[in-house]
This record gives sequence, structure tokens and C-alpha cells, in this order.
Amino acid sequence: MTQKYFIKGGTPLKGEVSIGGAKNSVLKLMAAALLAKGETKIYNVPALTDVEIMLSVIEQLGAKTSYNKIEKSVTIDATNLTSITAKYELVSKMRASFIVLGALVSRCKEAIVALPGGCAIGERRVDFHIRGLEALGAKIKIENGYVHAKVPKLTGAEIYLDIPSVGATENLMLAAILADGSTRIQNAAQEPEIVDLANFLNSLGADVNGAGTSEIVINGVKQEDLHPIEYTTIPDRIEAGTFMTAIIATRGKAIIKGVCPAHLTFFTDKLLKMGANIKLIEPNSLEVSCKNRLNSINFVTQPYPGFPTDLQSMAMTLLSTANGVGIITESLYENRFMQVPELRRMGADIHQDRNHAIIKGVKKLTGATLAASDLRAGASLVVAALMADGNSVIENLHHIDRGYENFETKLRLLGGKIERREDSPSSSQIILTEGIHNESYL
Ligand code: EPU
Repeated sequence: MTQKYFIKGGTPLKGEVSIGGAKNSVLKLMAAALLAKGETKIYNVPALTDVEIMLSVIEQLGAKTSYNKIEKSVTIDATNLTSITAKYELVSKMRASFIVLGALVSRCKEAIVALPGGCAIGERRVDFHIRGLEALGAKIKIENGYVHAKVPKLTGAEIYLDIPSVGATENLMLAAILADGSTRIQNAAQEPEIVDLANFLNSLGADVNGAGTSEIVINGVKQEDLHPIEYTTIPDRIEAGTFMTAIIATRGKAIIKGVCPAHLTFFTDKLLKMGANIKLIEPNSLEVSCKNRLNSINFVTQPYPGFPTDLQSMAMTLLSTANGVGIITESLYENRFMQVPELRRMGADIHQDRNHAIIKGVKKLTGATLAASDLRAGASLVVAALMADGNSVIENLHHIDRGYENFETKLRLLGGKIERREDSPSSSQIILTEGIHNESYL
């Protein structure tokens, strides 16, 4: 039996919601904890399947870990590492675990890490990671689907990234921490998660400068300079952006707490241009509301501080019922319009030509049975179902569970009519036979 969301659309979201720790930061902090001997504790860690996978990867390397669900903390004792191998069985489940490559090369001078391969949204190569490690002096062999990196002594280097890759910047930051001399990463990614990683590393005793700009300089330190720490992860800007979208889409009014508004300026600006109301009511709280039909806008996804690709699908959901025509250009991934066929099944009018989508706003979407193809496409379908007329069923929740903690619980607290249920022939039957007229299953 698989679990599905059963959603009845049309209820404006109201009330308050709190945002959790950033998935895309915490996974890297966990890998960075491998650098210091002793027990590091990370707070504000969301209970997500991706976090579970990262804990398994770290345990496989010999570190001791525990997750405290009440405290929302992870403890990692990396005093003894007993393995340098991250196996395909785990890396293939979550590509972010490739980040242990940099940490292991730094700490153990050798690592064998499975190549993650592509995924639903794109090819997602790791050539910049490999080239950067080679520049630091590592000898790299690619064999049997694994990267084998070995180096007697890492030496600081000048590294230029062809594009500001988040993962490559992070992997190379970790690899350079214990190198001899200075490493300069040029055209580095500038995402808030990079700054969080640099702050974490500096608390650990490393010497990282310039994070948040396009040039990061890492002055190598010695192993004995690094010590375990306690650290709190930054808020998840993509979760916050998703809730902003859901509130606006349902013409609701709600407060989003525990958010860092500065991490969302580009996205917020676009929502304001569409006609949403967004007010800063406290340093970490936003009041979001929308009364009228939105206006269409155009945008291009770009590395931070540009429009985040991870919120592209949410914005497309908004555009699908906005007034006029909006054009989205997806510039980071080859295949990140997986939500389009599903939105069309709800009545959206979207024309896609390679990495461009032209969205002609319709008056309303109608509920349907929908399949999540990946994390963010899946979340955008939940938003679409919440704003649509009638009932929807969303399948493949494992994608959504990778990045949204207690998603349905938080949405229900805001008044959203959403339930997670085991699928059974009778529940499908309700949707198939009674369609949008049935209200009894929620
Ligand atoms: N790229 C290369 N070669 C490389 C590295 C990247 O060609 O060596 C290309 C990729 O194929 C992609 C582009 O560069 O087309 C951007 O990739 P990047 O390395 O910046 O992304 P990432 O580190 O793999 C992280 C997030 C993604 C988010 C991107 C961009 C994590 C775990 N993942 O991925 O988040 O979309 O940055 O902001 O941090 C998500 O949360 O749903 C998600 C996919």
C-alpha cells in the first residue's frame, strides 16, 4: 500500500506556520562534521528522509550518529572513521551525499565515493568537483561507477568554476580546509547555504573567507586546529517560499515565522510584482496575503541571488491562473518542467519549448489525480491542488518527503484540506466515481 495526499481545494490558508532548518544546508553541515574529531551537534535539523540517508552514509564511514526528534538535533561523533567508502546503494538514493568526497579527502587523504549519476531533473554532472580536487593535488580514478581520490598531501590552489555550482563549491571548500596553503575558488556559488557552511567550518576552527561572494579563499589549517561544535542551521528558504506560494495561491492571509527574509528578496520581489502582499512584521516573520487575481510576470531561474530554480515550479503554479501570459526560462536544469503535464491535466494552458514555458493564465484549475515526479514539482502540485476547484489525489509522496517536514500537518494547521492516507481501492473509487462533487472523504 502506498501513501497519497487527498486534497480538497479552495480553502484560503490562514493562521501561522513555522519554517524548519534548511535541508540543503544541514546535509552539508553533517558532512563537514566529519572533519573534526569529537562530537558535533547540529540544531534545527528537519526530520526528512534525506537527513536519514545522510546519517546512514556517515555511519557507514564509522562515525557515530544520533537524531533527537524532539530537540531537532543531530549528533555526529567523528572521532574514529573506519571506512573511506560511500557506497552506491546510499549515494544513488540521494546525490547530496557526494559531498562526503571533499570531507574524506581532507580528513583521510583518500576517498572512494559512488558517482551519483543523473536524476529526473537533469544530467547533474560532477566534473567541476573532480577537476577542483585534481587542482588541489588529488589523483582521481573513475572505476566501476566510483570516484577514487587519493592524495599524499593536499596543496592550496586557484580554482575557477565554469558555472557557480553549489555542490562543487561546497565539496571543494571541504577539501581545502586542511590543505597546505591557500585555495581560492573563483566564480563560487553565493547561496545562503554556502555562507552557512563557511560559518560552520569557521566555528570548527577553519579559515574560510568571502563566502556569499563569488570568490572564496580558504587558508589551510591543521587537523589539531579543528574541534567539535554546537551549531544551528539557517531556515529553509525553499520551504518558506513554498508556503508563501500556497498562501497566495489560495488567496489566504497567514504569518510565516522563522524565516530569513533576506534570503528570499528576489522571489519576494516577483511575488509583489504579481500583486501579492508581503509585509515584514518582525525580523524573522512575514505576513503574506493575496485578495485578487495575480498578474503574470516573466522570469529566468539563476544561481543565487537570482530567481531560485527550486521555486520555479511553485511560481508556475501561480502563473497558471494569473491574468495574462507569463514566460519562464529555466537556465539551471535540462528537465525541470516535469510539473507541466500534470498542471495541464488540471486545466492549465502551458506551452513548453525546451527550457522555456509560456503560461497563459486560465480562470481556475480543477482537481485531478496527479503524480509527483520530483521534490519541487511534487510540492508545486500540492499548491495547485490546494487552489484548484474540487478534489485531487497526489501520488509518489516519497519525493515530497525528501524535503518537506510535516508538510500536510503544517498545511492543515493553516486550514488546508489535505490528508495523507494509505491508498485503497475504495479511496480511489471515491475520486473516480464522485469526482469534485464528493466532499465526504476529507
Ligand atoms: N553542474 C555541472 N558540473 C558540475 C556541477 C554542476 O555541469 O560539476 C551543473 C548541473 O548539472 C546543474 C548546474 O550545474 O545543471 C547547477 O548545479 P549545482 O551544482 O549548483 O547544484 P547541486 O549542488 O547539485 C543544489 C541543491 C539543489 C538546487 C541547486 C541549485 C542541494 C542538496 N541541492 O544542487 O536543490 O537546485 O543547488 O540551486 O543542495 C532541491 O532542493 O530540490 C534541489 C534540487
